[in-house]
This record gives sequence, C-alpha cells and structure tokens, in this order.
Amino acid sequence: MARRLNPFRTEVELIDAASDGRAVARHQDWVVFVEHGVPGDVAEVYVYRKQKKNLVARIDRIVTPSPDRAEPRCAHFGSCGGCKWQNMTYDAQLRFKQKQVVNILTRIGKVELGEIEPILGTESAYGYRNKLEFSFSNKAWRTREQMRHDQEVDEQRVLGFYAPGFYDKVLDIDACHLMDPVVNDIRNAVRAFARAEDWTFYDNRAHTGFLRNLVFRSSAATGELMLMLIVGEDDPEKVEQLFAHLEARFPAITSYLWIHNEKLNSTYTDLPVRTWKGTPYYTEQLGDFRYRVRPVSFFQTNPRQAARLYGVVKDYLQAVLPEGKSRHGLVYDLYAGTGSIGIFVSDLVERIIGIEYVAAAVEDAWENVRLNELDENRFRFLAGDLKDLLSEELAQTEGYPDVVITDPPRQGMDAKVVDRLLALKPAHIIYVSCKPATQARDLDLLSSWYEVVRIRPVDMFPHTAHVENVALLRRRAQQRIKPGSQSGEAINPDSSHDAAQASLG
Ligand SMILES: C[S@@+](CC[C@H](N)C(=O)[O-])C[C@H]1O[C@@H](n2cnc3c(N)ncnc32)[C@H](O)[C@@H]1O
Repeated sequence: MARRLNPFRTEVELIDAASDGRAVARHQDWVVFVEHGVPGDVAEVYVYRKQKKNLVARIDRIVTPSPDRAEPRCAHFGSCGGCKWQNMTYDAQLRFKQKQVVNILTRIGKVELGEIEPILGTESAYGYRNKLEFSFSNKAWRTREQMRHDQEVDEQRVLGFYAPGFYDKVLDIDACHLMDPVVNDIRNAVRAFARAEDWTFYDNRAHTGFLRNLVFRSSAATGELMLMLIVGEDDPEKVEQLFAHLEARFPAITSYLWIHNEKLNSTYTDLPVRTWKGTPYYTEQLGDFRYRVRPVSFFQTNPRQAARLYGVVKDYLQAVLPEGKSRHGLVYDLYAGTGSIGIFVSDLVERIIGIEYVAAAVEDAWENVRLNELDENRFRFLAGDLKDLLSEELAQTEGYPDVVITDPPRQGMDAKVVDRLLALKPAHIIYVSCKPATQARDLDLLSSWYEVVRIRPVDMFPHTAHVENVALLRRRAQQRIKPGSQSGEAINPDSSHDAAQASLG
C-alpha cells in the first residue's frame, strides 16, 4: 500500500481488543484498529488512516452485533475520550483485561508467569471515582452527533474534558457517571454562573482567561467533598463570589480551595493552595484505615477497588512470611504516595520505609500514620527521587529490605531504580502496576534474579481498557543468564503494533 492511504470501505469481523481500547480486525495482511468496535462484531468499516504499520477505521454500519455488546449509559459516549468500553458488557471487559495482562507479559515481555489468578472485578462499575478534573475552555469540541449533522456549536464557553488528541478543545459535559451525581449538579451550576457573570474561560493557545480547571475529590465513606478551582488571574473577590453562590446551594461541599496558576502549563501540584472554607485536605477510607489527602497528592481514584488491590498486596506479603514469623522485618514501600500501601499492610511488618517524590504527599503519609494511631517509630518516609534515594547507603543506614513493594506511575520504574533493586536483592518484590507494558519491560529487566510466582490483575477503571496488575517476584537461588540473550535487548512498551500482533496471536 502507498505511504498515503486512500480511504476505503470494507466489511470485517472484529476479533480482539487492543490495549488502547480499540477493537482489532484483519484486512488482507493489515491489522486494523476499529474505533468503538466490540470484538465479535461484524461491521462495515471506513478505513481512513494509516498509523505506523496499521490501519485505523471507524464503524459505518454493524452487520452482526457482538454478543458482548451493551448499551452505553452515557450520552457523551463516542465523543468523550473516557469510558471507551461502555458499549461492552462488564463480563467481557474483565475477560479482555485478563487476556491483555497475560498477553503483554508473556508475549511481549517474554516473562514466565507462575500462578495466574483471575482478575478482581467490581460490583460498582459506575460512580466509582473519588476524583474528577474538568477544564474550562473558550473552544468547544463538536460532538459526534453535531459533526454527523454538520451542526455548529452555539456556545463556545465550555466546562468538561479535553477532546481526545486536542489540548485546546473541550467537550462540554452535562453528566458524567463516574462520580457522585451531585458533582454534575455543582459543575453545571459553576458553568451557568460563570456564563451569566460573563467571566472568561481559558484559552489554551493564547493563554488568557480567568477560569482554568475545576477539581472534585470526595469520599463516599467519610462523606467529604472537596472542590478546588484553578484560575489564571489572581482575583480572590471573584473566587469568593462563586464559592458563596455554591455554598448557599450545595451543603454537600465540605471544603473550598483554589489555586492561582498563571503558568503556560496546567500542572498545579507545585503551586500554593488557598483555602476559602473547610480543611485543606479531605479524608478517604480504605478498609480499616483513614487517609488524609491534600489536593496535590496522588491518591487511588477508585477507593473500593484500591482496598482490594491493597488486599492482594497484603495476601502476597502474608504468603511470603518467613517460617514461624508473623511479621516481616523491613519492607521498602517505593513510590509511596501518601503512605497508603505501607499503612494498609503495616500489621504484617516491623518497619516500613516509604519513598516518594512529592514532599506534600510525604507530609500526608506522616499525618496518616498518626491518624491511624500507628507507632511512628515503625515508619520512615523519605521525600525525593527514587533514582537518588534508593541506594546502598540507604540500606547500610536503614537496613536491607526483606520485601520491596513498588508501585510506579505509568512509565514504570526508572532503569536506575531497577538496577538498585538488583543490587539490593530483597527476597521478594511485590510489583503493583497500572500499565502492564511497562511492568513487562521491568519484569524482563529483573528476570536475571527474579521469577514471577503469582500475578493478579485488578480492575480499577471499569469501561476503560486500563488494568492494574500485581505481581509477586521471588529471588532466584542463582543468577539466570537468559538463553541467547544480548544485554540491552529492550522491549518498547509503547509499541501498539506489537501489542496488536501479540493480541492477535
Ligand atoms: C501510582 S502512584 C502510587 C502511590 C501509592 N503507592 C498509592 O497506592 O497511592 C505513583 C507515585 O510515585 C510517585 N513518583 C513518581 N516518580 C517518582 C520518582 N522518580 N521517585 C519517587 N516517587 C515518584 C508519584 O508522585 C506518585 O505518588
């Protein structure tokens, strides 16, 4: 086929799901990614783009629907970039997530897996999030319906989610079913108030405008609801005007915070947070533990499933207790955030050392130890980059870890951190991952000294293709030299072509 594609129509059967949420089909020798398709569909598709070595298509007409098809609940489905699997039954979502984890680890990562436990799903596939972040924009994204009917958007001042692939256009959200429904009422009231007052909505190209972001964090368990407004101009009177308007209407809001961000980028975690009313944090509960979370700290966004995820970590920790012992001596909790995992498993450990980049999260971690009335002498939290802090010197001062728990962000562990783990050689590593492709890369790097004895995927994000995976690693009796391996033979975790080929088998 020529470098540029002449769009065409064809009928295909969708045979699998790719890790980015699209369905996968074959056309001649090509892998075709089909947007909003469900594996099992037979459909007429419009192939409109070449992407690396693959084709991209959208559905024109479903000839035979998949038995796994479901009616999406959300009116924004298809236009919004989130919840791409809402048109698939929840059982099928879980099946594909399990398959995705195993495929990526075994076929791309070439990791030998021991016991593969079934994915832990949820009973609450909607309203599960404790955090949502909306953006204001003066450029509205047209919905699929509006595009189909060639309609323009009447109102450009919108508040919602960035359109997929755009950094300046926002899809106006009327109802999102991922959080408590009161959040929809509050967000819509904020937008209506701002339009009536003729306040400016942010322009992400010109970098002008008053209103930038609106963040909600809440806990169903503690009943707290934090609202945080991010503004591009330092105008406390206007902020107060809006907050007073909301306070009179929404008693559910327990704290009002705001940040002035005049930077060109929208990252606000490095900026001072101002409190109008309430506390500068909210409290979340996972299992028996309470956690104080400040607005700039990372915290798991699906608390019900987070408790189950941490439960898996705890099971694995329990399973590798030295004989005759009820506690491990020393555990390192890497990428510790607000100390949540270490605290959750603390009754199985004598001492825990948590390491985390964000200083405010480390302060929260200390606060959480006190909040749960745990003995502070059993904990140590260090703020800084793991590349610098995880070292031989740390082990010599604090002790060598019996077990390391690691929970890195989506990009996985830095190669230096992996090297340090290989040097420290704890008896076991428990690796919690939110991106199986980077976990596969890291497990491969660790495989000279570690074998994977158990894995358990956990579904933290229903209706998306995202999946979390916990792996239990055991140190080998001696170093393994991989047959035929050349040092430096790296896996590219972002290769969607490889992912598609692997998923096709
Ligand atoms: C996926 S979160 C996990 C947090 C925590 N374990 C939990 O369950 O809530 C990853 C955390 O790693 C931190 N982080 C990212 N890069 C880091 C680095 N290079 N060194 C230390 N911490 C880092 C982030 O700030 C974030 O809190």
